[in-house]
Amino acid sequence: MKASIFDRETEIRKRAEQAGQGHVFAWWAECSEAERASLLEQVDSIEFPLLESLVRDLVRNPHQEETVTLEPAPIIPIPVSDAQIKAKDLARERGHTLIREGKVAALVVAGGQGTRLGFDGPKGAFPIGPVSSKPLFAFFAEKLLAAQRRYGPAIPWYIMTSPANDSTTREFFEKNRFFGLVPQQVHFFVQGTMPAVDQEGKILLASKHEIARSPDGHGGTLRALERSGALDRMEAEGIQEISYFQVDNVLVRVPDPVFLGYHAEAGAEMSSKVVRKAYPEEKVGVIGMRGGKLGVIEYSDLSQEDMSARGPDGELKYWAGSIAIHMIRVSFLRRLQREGIQLPFHRADKKVPFVDADGRHIEPASPNGIKFECFIFDALRHAASAISQEVVRQEEFSPVKNATGVSSPATAQGALMEVYASWLEQAGVKVPRNESGALASRIEISPLYALDRAEAVQKIPPDLKITNDLLLTDGTTSP
Ligand code: UTP
Repeated sequence: MKASIFDRETEIRKRAEQAGQGHVFAWWAECSEAERASLLEQVDSIEFPLLESLVRDLVRNPHQEETVTLEPAPIIPIPVSDAQIKAKDLARERGHTLIREGKVAALVVAGGQGTRLGFDGPKGAFPIGPVSSKPLFAFFAEKLLAAQRRYGPAIPWYIMTSPANDSTTREFFEKNRFFGLVPQQVHFFVQGTMPAVDQEGKILLASKHEIARSPDGHGGTLRALERSGALDRMEAEGIQEISYFQVDNVLVRVPDPVFLGYHAEAGAEMSSKVVRKAYPEEKVGVIGMRGGKLGVIEYSDLSQEDMSARGPDGELKYWAGSIAIHMIRVSFLRRLQREGIQLPFHRADKKVPFVDADGRHIEPASPNGIKFECFIFDALRHAASAISQEVVRQEEFSPVKNATGVSSPATAQGALMEVYASWLEQAGVKVPRNESGALASRIEISPLYALDRAEAVQKIPPDLKITNDLLLTDGTTSP
């Protein structure tokens, strides 16, 4: 007879009860057979010892983060001197070689819930193209396509999803025929989840037969790569470096030969891109040295004094804001696994819809629950060697986080169009602007037309007239 989850009901219930979480079965009597089976499966998959330690350390006795002695980190600057320009050229060459040799894969983390954006669908499906309304995923795919046309080998693309958006993400790619990529070069892998708990550390129920779970953070990438076999695949395919980015940043350069080259030249295990913070209180993590190691210090862990400290030149002492773009060596991830190094979980206080003790479904107005997440940048402190490179914010970083206001689709489209405008202007084209300097029409350049400024300047005819919305694609001009 086929084994059934009900054969293990007693054991599963006992584990939950011993962990002080027996209440998850409170509505058992009202559940259907299928709902009961599903609930048992969900409870069975919870790592109770891990959950118990997180509740103990992050919920019941949250210890104050020990104050860290921070020092500014060495950062590769935007080149000005001849020596710096030469170093950048060398880095680019090294990066080109690695891409040509097929040693680089792209990896996007797209498992987040995107609650602030509130878009109905995976964030990567958000229509961001200022003229084309093309989704975020299409921009990344076209960058990879353009790069492989330029450099030769197909660039494998690893896409981390979460259980909540895995099937919709896959369907979206299929519906869009993988945006011109070969389906075999696109590898989806699903990240893990963690139960969300209340302020007492009790697991919240999303419905009477459902545990409230949330993805385990972008740091979940490490475990998910191992568990899914993606890391094995990378090694088998001879991939040495992973170009890591977030799904919300349409401006990302992927792959970026220069960043790749600096990272490889230094023999770094994990590297980061940074931009100058716009103002001291800007909510970005900063790259600094703690205990002699490069690391990201979260905005909330930075003392007021360090946040506003200035150097002799009047510049912010801790100016290097991390933009969540990394180069990660495959052998580094394998070493972490071999040495049993796991990234720590952090506590995030969030609004978590739940079923209350009377069985009512509650949509909380303020944070009621606690989610547990790992952060990818915590891996940095384990890297034997790491570099950081400063880049120009306007050219490489404009995330879509909120529906309106700062870091929204409107600001990302504005940033994209300004990049295109500067390419057009450098090519000698007159870009119409109104009196306040704002663009008079919408413009967009597909990565398939030009992957970067150099290609754009070389291709765009200087006598191009912009009279209406402009979309440059694959060598043709429309509409
Ligand atoms: P954010 O921290 O901005 O979260 O993720 P989010 O899910 O996109 O948005 P909110 O906070 O719910 O509004 C930064 C990047 O990390 C990915 C996201 O998909 C995004 O690319 N991420 C985040 C994951 O892949 N998994 C996670 O568990 C969390």
